[in-house]
Amino acid sequence: MSLNRRDVLKTGIFAGAALALPVRQALASGPSQRNRLPTSRLPQPFSVPFVVPPIARPVRSDATTDYYRIRMQSTVGTILPGFRTPLFAYNGTVPGPTFKVRQGRKVVVRQINELPRQHPTLKYTPWTSVHLHGSASLPQFDGYASDISLPGQYKDYQYPNFQPARTLWYHDHGVHHTAENVYQGLYAQYHLSDAREDALKLPAGEFDVPLTIGDAMFNADGSLLFSLDNHKGMWGDVIVVNGRPWPAMKVKRRKYRFRVLNGSISRSYNWSLNGGDPFTVIATDGGLMPRPQTVTSIRHGSAERYEIIVDFSRYQPGQRVVMRNASPKNNEDYDNTDKIMAFDVVADPFDGANNSIPAELDPRNPLMALTPQQAVKTRQIVLERKGGEWTVNGTTWAKIEASGFQFTESEPRNGDVEIWEIITKSGGWFHPLHIHLIDFKVLDRNGKPPFPYELGPKDVVYAGENETVRVITRFEGAGKYMVHCHNLIHEDHDMMTQFRVVNPNVTEFDPMGTPAINLPERTAL
Ligand code: C2O
Ligand code: CU
Ligand code: CU
Repeated sequence: MSLNRRDVLKTGIFAGAALALPVRQALASGPSQRNRLPTSRLPQPFSVPFVVPPIARPVRSDATTDYYRIRMQSTVGTILPGFRTPLFAYNGTVPGPTFKVRQGRKVVVRQINELPRQHPTLKYTPWTSVHLHGSASLPQFDGYASDISLPGQYKDYQYPNFQPARTLWYHDHGVHHTAENVYQGLYAQYHLSDAREDALKLPAGEFDVPLTIGDAMFNADGSLLFSLDNHKGMWGDVIVVNGRPWPAMKVKRRKYRFRVLNGSISRSYNWSLNGGDPFTVIATDGGLMPRPQTVTSIRHGSAERYEIIVDFSRYQPGQRVVMRNASPKNNEDYDNTDKIMAFDVVADPFDGANNSIPAELDPRNPLMALTPQQAVKTRQIVLERKGGEWTVNGTTWAKIEASGFQFTESEPRNGDVEIWEIITKSGGWFHPLHIHLIDFKVLDRNGKPPFPYELGPKDVVYAGENETVRVITRFEGAGKYMVHCHNLIHEDHDMMTQFRVVNPNVTEFDPMGTPAINLPERTAL
């Protein structure tokens, strides 16, 4: 097993063995951009059919809980027609299987790390930690970055699913290698539904469609090219949706619900339909908005989810609706990164049920009623490049590790309402900031109202260049949780800190208190 020195020092896991290992620069042996597959070998946009990832099936269910088993393995898949691409996958598919979960039913997922001991070209050890992004999980099941499972280990993650209906996603969060692990395929959606959402009769079944957007770059042999670009980020020249390059989807002349997730490592989008046709936003990261909002474009950072309804009855059969990308600043653009996917309108008959948008969605979500007057504290979260490192309030994850995971950025009390002012102190970059555990409401951005599409519960906010974004939340829970930039290159190097919710009334669990277990599996699932 080969580890780079930084990994060894930072995890401390191999403290004994570390001395025997050669010092290795992180990713120094990785491929270089010079190997890049030329645009002429890439597919034409909209030439590849759209696909929907498979649905996850439980291996067993009892009165309260559904149990799933996921194997994380290397596989070889096809992203570009005519090429075979080595990938990491949850149960063999990229993206992984979509969970369909009902509020009130608990879920246990056995995540088995069967990845190789060492990545064949990047030479790192693909340890994992699985985060269900959007879930108020207990600390030990939250995918805490340093709570890793090594290849040959597994961990059972418990998810409570008590929150309102929403689109969550699960992805790798292993310390310092989140970007590589997600880039290679360890990401997927997770849909939580409830009775309130049912009552709205939103488009369902084949008309409720996950769209996970990503970007990638390829070596001449079709393998993924991973390039760190001085830790600024990773921008691919190929846009993928559900793992396919610039796909084209056939759509019938009715309304569709799309769950749009930006799963890119670093890239943000400003996407629109045909460059400005209206569509309706119904939900954000934390679920339904109070009221639908009709807009013509969305600036969309990594990990944000926007659920939209598009009415294709306004188009004629044979028309093509293109999802375009007017790239926000500080992204790197290539020939076809101004396109995401296409919708080809067909004349086929369709089921006319669930084909409207109610005027109100979730008008009584208590989070969305919070006002600044209720806040007992205002804290600043300053995002900046300092001493060659990405920092959150001057802190990096290295500081958390050095403190034995004791250092906390802040310690809100359970039940307290607080305002966090998220500040990007530069015109040179943007940061999608994610706070674990809680949903928040965006109050304002540079003193102006949030964008209409942000008027719903959020857990990631786009902190753009020289922006100050104020968010408000009520902290509920107990224990330590991460807060970090969701540009995964920034997160890995080392733009992540933690807060602790202080709650004397409940047991506070240690995020690293339920470690992974060596294979073979010791208990039945
Ligand atoms: Cu989606 Cu802490 O991550
Ligand atoms: Cu999260
Ligand atoms: Cu960042």
